[in-house]
Amino acid sequence: MSEHVLQARGLTRRFGGVVAVREVDLEIGQGERRAVLGPNGAGKSSLFNLLAGADTPTAGSIELFGTDVTALGARQRTRMGLSRTFQTSRLLGGLTVEDNLYLAAIGVSGGRFRLLRGSRDAEARKRAVRVAESVGMTDRLGEPAGELSHGEQRQLEIGLALVAEPRLLLLDEPAAGLSRAERQLLTALLLGLERDVTLLIIEHDMDVALTVAERVTMMYEGAVIVEGTPAEIRSNQRVHDLYLGRAHV
Ligand SMILES: Nc1ncnc2c1ncn2[C@@H]1O[C@H](COP(=O)(O)OP(=O)(O)OP(=O)(O)O)[C@@H](O)[C@H]1O
Ligand SMILES: [Mg+2]
Repeated sequence: MSEHVLQARGLTRRFGGVVAVREVDLEIGQGERRAVLGPNGAGKSSLFNLLAGADTPTAGSIELFGTDVTALGARQRTRMGLSRTFQTSRLLGGLTVEDNLYLAAIGVSGGRFRLLRGSRDAEARKRAVRVAESVGMTDRLGEPAGELSHGEQRQLEIGLALVAEPRLLLLDEPAAGLSRAERQLLTALLLGLERDVTLLIIEHDMDVALTVAERVTMMYEGAVIVEGTPAEIRSNQRVHDLYLGRAHV
């Protein structure tokens, strides 16, 4: 079996005349922290949607945990252990942090976790509390999600994605819209996640991406143009020309 958690080959997605994702090869190992960086329109979200199964490639293939999932939908990939966050919030603002996590736990209990009906509720409550702890929200359990700060809402969204105990977690711009202080908290949270979860982060923010990731994949106009360690990315001339040299957008 493949050592890779994720392996994409020749992944391509066209939208009419636009090639949003262009022959992308991507291999992510067990426990790895990987960031995908790139300027606006580079194809990051399009790639993310292909990996999560929210969209279908025009060409190429995707293996997840050694299995070809190219033809499988998002739900099936979730059941295999892939979890993702959404750029637009999925929080139920009127419900507390605990109840948001509890409902997510009930949601997954019918899938990967087949529990006896009687113990399902108690198990989901326990899981909600455990996940809240793992995203640093134990003291916010009783707070309505709608009253959390923007940074806390992001934390909770990561919590919702962790409820299913994924093996691979895809985060779409987790630092978007956060203050500097909130970004630092988020970075600490991501650094503290258990190593049995492999992380793929799509990020605009260089600081978060280069601090959390061990390897960085840089996209431009749909294609991967550089891949390397954060130090290699920082010192790469093309990255400077295409990304760092421009106003931070
Ligand atoms: N559903 C779609 N229909 C048509 N074109 C699309 C669609 N989705 C993306 N595109 C185009 O594909 C290209 C890549 O877009 P994508 O959203 O993947 O970039 P991105 O790297 O996520 O950018 P950003 O940093 O702004 O989020 C862009 O030219 C975009 O206009
Ligand atoms: Mg995007």
